[in-house]
Amino acid sequence: MSNDKPWGGRFGEETHELVEDFTESVSFDKALYRYDIQGSIAHARMLSQVGVLIREECDAIVEGLNTIARDIEQDNFSWSARLEDVHMNIEAELTERIGDVGKKLHTARSRNDQIATDLRLYLREAVDNILERLVELRRTLLDLAESEVETVMPGFTHLQVAQPVTLGHHVLAWLSMLERDSQRFSEARVRINILPLGAAALAGTTFGIDRQYTAEQLGFDGIADNSLDAVSDRDFVIECSAHASLLMVHLSRIAEELILWQSEAYKFIEIGDAFCTGSSIMPQKKNPDVAELLRGKSGRAIGNLVSLLTLMKGQPLAYNRDNQEDKEPIFDTVKTVCACLAVLAAMVPTISVNRSRMRDAASQGFATATDLADYLVRKGVPFRDAHEAVGKVVAECLADGIALTDLALDRLRQHHASIDSDIFDMLSLEGSVSARNHLGGTAPEQVRAAIARHRANLPS
Ligand code: ARG
Repeated sequence: MSNDKPWGGRFGEETHELVEDFTESVSFDKALYRYDIQGSIAHARMLSQVGVLIREECDAIVEGLNTIARDIEQDNFSWSARLEDVHMNIEAELTERIGDVGKKLHTARSRNDQIATDLRLYLREAVDNILERLVELRRTLLDLAESEVETVMPGFTHLQVAQPVTLGHHVLAWLSMLERDSQRFSEARVRINILPLGAAALAGTTFGIDRQYTAEQLGFDGIADNSLDAVSDRDFVIECSAHASLLMVHLSRIAEELILWQSEAYKFIEIGDAFCTGSSIMPQKKNPDVAELLRGKSGRAIGNLVSLLTLMKGQPLAYNRDNQEDKEPIFDTVKTVCACLAVLAAMVPTISVNRSRMRDAASQGFATATDLADYLVRKGVPFRDAHEAVGKVVAECLADGIALTDLALDRLRQHHASIDSDIFDMLSLEGSVSARNHLGGTAPEQVRAAIARHRANLPS
């Protein structure tokens, strides 16, 4: 009795079928085939460059791998769980196709540095994809901000009307969050783009390899400088997963606001029919399900991050099979983030804004009370005294059920003699908004400048 696995030489028994099912990863890591083949081709060329393989052997391997890639692409490849993972499936097929020379490919390499390489190639591309989609979303949001530069709405704290802002300014707050998300992914990419190959199983290899040559072929900007670390840490996966979670939290917050704004109570916006769904029982309903799913899917990304962190914690150096469990969470996160970015970018242009509802809501709740206090301060009243006086004005309005601007000048003056008729400009929504005219403020002039800055930060 022996074992027919590629590693079966020292085994006296067949693998238990439960163990085969339990340990296999090909059912999900076959998604890495392109990167696996790309890495193998670069490795074979390097081996030929340094004289470990002769030219003909390298050519046969590269040619064989290319035909395998083509067949997989055309769904013309049969994956076998018996061969555990994407690496051994492809290697076994290579030997099947080109004969014994295929068995030379794994010289000076281990699946440990191979999977770390595959994963880095995969994640580099995933990050580029995410960055591209982020840019697309940022562009659509900038268009929305641009058309709502002058639209007054209530700004909230504690979800209570606080001070008037413009919708353009509010949307720019989302853009600031997303710009930082883009920066985080770009920074993570630098740390992803490092070559692990050459670390072999954990200690390096006895062959005179040229890692620089391999790195250049694969477009890596650097080479992992410790073989133990190269095969063991998955911090680059965790980092991306953390950035993705934060991005998803931002998308969730945006979605939450869209949901509130579309509700009957707010009626600030209406999302296009194509991005809403109906109820199977209540014929009148138009539900913001897409936005709700955007909010809900953040749970997945956060869960995946916790899985990845937990997976890494407590692993001794160097490679451990635990790391096989990193694939499904990161694949799921990448897929989720890409889908969410695409759907939100497509939904934003369908949003129609109910400007008069927003304006009406801003006129409730004494949103310009701070402006009255600031006015008094400019007349020399200390801010705390001004605050006290305006508090009394608000109480009087509340008792009469009127707005600040409904109060006649003589009644206002009873609260403070320095109030004059020029106060009414300050108490208007437009006056309040345009008075906040400094870098980062909500005045339309500032919002226009901020939009220009954001546009300049996008790739042309
Ligand atoms: N499927 C493994 C993973 O995802 C590949 C490396 C396996 N190496 C090993 N020595 N068992 O991490």
